[in-house]
Amino acid sequence: MQVTVRVPAKVNVQLAVGAARPDGFHDLANVFLAVGLYDEVTATTAPELRITCDGPGSEQVPLDEGNLAARAALALAGRYGREAAVHLHIAKDIPVAGGMAGGSADAAGALLACDTLWGTGASRAELLDICAELGSDVPFSLVGGAALGIGRGEQLTELAVGGGFDWVFAVADGGLSTPAVYREFDRLAEGRRIPQPAASEGLLKALAAGDRAALAGALSNDLQPAALSLFPSLADTLAAGTAAGALAALVSGSGPTTAFLAEDAAAAHRIAEALTASGTCRTARVATSPAPGATVL
Ligand code: C5P
Repeated sequence: MQVTVRVPAKVNVQLAVGAARPDGFHDLANVFLAVGLYDEVTATTAPELRITCDGPGSEQVPLDEGNLAARAALALAGRYGREAAVHLHIAKDIPVAGGMAGGSADAAGALLACDTLWGTGASRAELLDICAELGSDVPFSLVGGAALGIGRGEQLTELAVGGGFDWVFAVADGGLSTPAVYREFDRLAEGRRIPQPAASEGLLKALAAGDRAALAGALSNDLQPAALSLFPSLADTLAAGTAAGALAALVSGSGPTTAFLAEDAAAAHRIAEALTASGTCRTARVATSPAPGATVL
């Protein structure tokens, strides 16, 4: 028997970051929006846990128990007292180490695929609980749509979205490590008082209304200065997308993928072409939002 689950990437339309907590994590007000770039995770019964992966950047994906999808299978099997005897194949399309929650998507996908394959009957709340143990962004990959994440980003409230948005994502040459970007955030914040993170009312209203001009004016990412400090050439990518007519440009999550909000689908294609031609990124992808969460195909 075999189960395939499709899982979306995300962009953070607001990422407000508080001061480092004693546990090293940061309190966030994290507004996630799922976008229509997808990984697919296929779970097949096998003698033992095995991970394979193909697609762009797949050579950078660990195939051992360091893989979040493997950890998801082990966590679910552990909870239900069974062996994680499963082959997980990850067909990657979400940029690897790009700040678009590709690893989190694979974890949520593996969890739902194994749950379905094994017929564990876990409740949604249990699955979300396991997701939160696996990583701060994993619950959102299961849920999709749009949500506000507080705490580490794992405590979700689903948000209404009043319309579709057209995006372009510029995939950088190289990756950024999320912990390294948060460390750089801490270094840049030294000696400054960091306010408690809070969701922007204007941004939530823009999302609910499906108002792209208002959303463009409200996009923000507190990790952007840290990502630019570690990867200065991202400033050229942001400038190239803005010059090509993007309504707004920002680093996606911890980067180095950059996100551009477009007026409509035609504008998104023009911006993607201009970004590719600019030589400031490896490739540019067009995608729409919101997208559904992890879905059994
Ligand atoms: O939760 P996750 O494993 O995805 O987090 C990866 C790293 O990102 C953490 O080890 C931490 O360095 C940083 N992080 C953080 N505060 C958050 C989420 C992540 O500092 N709220």
